[in-house]
Amino acid sequence: MPTVFITGANRGLGLEFSKQYSTLGWKVIACYRNQENSTDLIRISEETNNLTPYKLDITNEKEINKLSDYFFEEKFDVLIHNAGIDGNKCEDFGTMDMSDWVDVMVTNTISPLLVTQALIDNLKIGKHKTIVGMTSIMASIDDNQSGGRYSYRASKAALNQVIRTLSVDLSEEKIKALAIHPGWVQTDMGGINAKITPEESVKSMIALINNCTDADSGSFLLYDGTRLPW
Ligand SMILES: NC(=O)c1ccc[n+]([C@@H]2O[C@H](COP(=O)([O-])OP(=O)(O)OC[C@H]3O[C@@H](n4cnc5c(N)ncnc54)[C@H](OP(=O)(O)O)[C@@H]3O)[C@@H](O)[C@H]2O)c1
Repeated sequence: MPTVFITGANRGLGLEFSKQYSTLGWKVIACYRNQENSTDLIRISEETNNLTPYKLDITNEKEINKLSDYFFEEKFDVLIHNAGIDGNKCEDFGTMDMSDWVDVMVTNTISPLLVTQALIDNLKIGKHKTIVGMTSIMASIDDNQSGGRYSYRASKAALNQVIRTLSVDLSEEKIKALAIHPGWVQTDMGGINAKITPEESVKSMIALINNCTDADSGSFLLYDGTRLPW
């Protein structure tokens, strides 16, 4: 049974990834940071035998540093850096605040790399060997015609660079790294007017992740596999 490790798995896309991988029979390590808003995830874990909730705040370095010992010699096939924040406190020119921007960079850009470093030995012994960064079309410099969203755009553009760099550095280990934009999805972050459901987005992304090859590593992709402009 392959294993997937998912951050921010208590709601939104992360919860949907957890449900769908669990239904497919994968072993799921589903990370949450607060028990109080993770009741759906905890209930699902009690109803299945292949989903394990694990407490991880990706901005907490102490928790990150415990990962390699806790999961020592466990094989991980897919690592999904799903947890993210939208930086809505500092979106527009004239409202920018340094500490808010730093929070967004730490969560969306730096922590995925630190978690990858902590779990690299687990991925090396897995079969699928795939790292996924949940990015956004907002990261695209070519596509930016609407402006605003400074911290979110910058953090996801930098995440894309992290993913691309991992694809180069880990190619000898046959580890693939993909930056995937899930579409505009109906979650707390995406809002009710978003175009697609989490079910639809995640179903496509799982197929994309399962079918990706070494040639896809380092790509910036829409959930359906379309290549996006950097
Ligand atoms: N929805 C969209 O339309 C859309 C579009 C493009 C990209 N994305 C990206 O897709 C990913 C998931 O988005 P979503 O729509 O599902 O967002 P969401 O509904 O706001 O959920 C965000 C998830 O990230 C977790 N999280 C945030 N900071 C964390 C931290 N420091 N440590 C651990 N977990 C943390 C949250 O946990 P808590 O519940 O504890 O806060 C929650 O589980 C994000 O990276 C987002 O940028 C989404």
